[in-house]
Amino acid sequence: MVHEDKKFSTKNPRLMVPTKIECNGFILRRLEVGDAPSITKYCQDPLIHQMTVRIPFPYELKDGEWFVNNSIPKWDEGKEFNFGIIINNEVVGICGLAGFDSLHRHAELGYWLGKPFRGQGIMSKAAKAVVKFAFEELKVHRLDVWHMEQNEGSKRIIQKLGFTHEGMRREGHLKDGKWNNSVMYGLLESEYLKKNKVILN
Ligand SMILES: CC(C)(COP(=O)(O)OP(=O)(O)OC[C@H]1O[C@@H](n2cnc3c(N)ncnc32)[C@H](O)[C@@H]1OP(=O)(O)O)[C@@H](O)C(=O)NCCC(=O)NCCS
Repeated sequence: MVHEDKKFSTKNPRLMVPTKIECNGFILRRLEVGDAPSITKYCQDPLIHQMTVRIPFPYELKDGEWFVNNSIPKWDEGKEFNFGIIINNEVVGICGLAGFDSLHRHAELGYWLGKPFRGQGIMSKAAKAVVKFAFEELKVHRLDVWHMEQNEGSKRIIQKLGFTHEGMRREGHLKDGKWNNSVMYGLLESEYLKKNKVILN
């Protein structure tokens, strides 16, 4: 995995972070104007809506445009870091960090992947790279992640990343008229550094 193309976030000069991360078989890169059509194409799968809280279904081009147009300034402000998963010049999924708080140094990991690309270990690799980005570039102290109770695939990814199960947020989300339990996890900087044998400067 190679980090390249370091750029200053325009409104926060203390945050110099890579906008592109080379992974084995795909690239993670900051979203760009023009990514909305491929995001819209892969969000035609209702499972993405069912397993997340803010992704609508049906998903229209205007939803993809809103997401891209919202993500670009949030990156510049140092608040959200949404990476597109790029395969064959298309955004086939998203793996990113929301709610970055530079005072308390925490953020929340989230992701989805287009149906044709699932079951090949892509999100395991993408999420690992974004966790590395969070601890080694943003220098977070704590990373949060959660999944809906029934989401076995996401649960497995989170377990492999070394997160600690911290509890159940009972009836945390209203999804299509039904209250869903959310399973909550956290990963601390000390745990990440120890697991990955990383020494930060
Ligand atoms: C969850 C999701 C991101 C997984 O992406 P993926 O690239 O297919 O995941 P991977 O191929 O890296 O597989 C991760 C692990 O989960 C397992 N897994 C995947 N789907 C599974 C399922 N439905 N049931 C049980 N295990 C599953 C895989 O076997 C793998 O385990 P292993 O490494 O021990 O073999 C993808 O299915 C998705 O986008 N789903 C819809 C949106 C969503 O759920 N987003 C997450 C919200 S918290």
